[in-house]
Amino acid sequence: MMAAMSEPVVHLNGEYVPLASASIPIEDRGFLFADACYEVTLVVEGRCIAIDRHLARLQRGLDELRIDVDASALEPIHHELIRRNELAGASFASVYVHITRGVAPRAHAFPANASPTVLLRAQEITGPSPTMIEHGTAAITAADVRWGRVDIKTTGLLPNVLAQQAAVDAGADDVILHRDGLVTEGSHTNVFAVLDDVLVTAPADHRILPGVTRGIVLELAEGAGIAVEQREWSTEELTAADEVLMTSTTAGVRPIVEIDGRGVGGGRRGRITERLQAEFAAFVARA
Ligand code: PDD
Repeated sequence: MMAAMSEPVVHLNGEYVPLASASIPIEDRGFLFADACYEVTLVVEGRCIAIDRHLARLQRGLDELRIDVDASALEPIHHELIRRNELAGASFASVYVHITRGVAPRAHAFPANASPTVLLRAQEITGPSPTMIEHGTAAITAADVRWGRVDIKTTGLLPNVLAQQAAVDAGADDVILHRDGLVTEGSHTNVFAVLDDVLVTAPADHRILPGVTRGIVLELAEGAGIAVEQREWSTEELTAADEVLMTSTTAGVRPIVEIDGRGVGGGRRGRITERLQAEFAAFVARA
């Protein structure tokens, strides 16, 4: 159901303000340096799905970047934004959190006296498309040219943006990144393969973002008796896989049926992908 339309309200530095009047100074280090991290949580009928996992990941990123914000204090703001933006009845919404090191004259090292800029926004989203869930999408492959700490969810996403645009330019929906012949992840998703009935995905080290959906899907797979391996895996394994799938907060569990113009996994959603989608839908329904 679509929620009632009213003027959007965001939370900026401790205040609820209309979106149209929210503004950030040009010396904000998020703008100047992408000196910032972010988080995106799915909201289903007013319920923030796995918010504890999202806030724990955000806290870890803030600690790694040495930005002094208590992520747990943001949870009530999520709920208040859902209330103020009348999203409790929406089928799908998201809360976006963006925290920067703050505003200071441009100089690379940390400023002495800046307080972090904290922005939260809740908005309705379309949610995973039923067509994509059932029929999957086409992906291209591309070299992963990102920095060495992509486990931190920073807003420095230019390589992700360029890779996703390359997919769009090629008429595809998604991109699968690889580094040194090993599959890492998507531009904004984690990537899995099914190889001989084993669900395989890259280990959660500095080369991928530890996706919340990834973690949930791995737990659900184990609970369903599906063998799981978190290990390095190659682009050869990708193209030979029985099934390929992607996960993210906004896309859920999505089959990939074509890679670089060739069918993968028989060109249709596989059995284990379908099982994981059902498990994930049940998880969201009870979360
Ligand atoms: N992206 N990998 C990357 C590089 C991502 O940006 C994301 C999420 C994921 C999946 O993580 P999760 O399951 O926690 O959403 C993996 C968000 C949705 C975004 O940038 O919009």
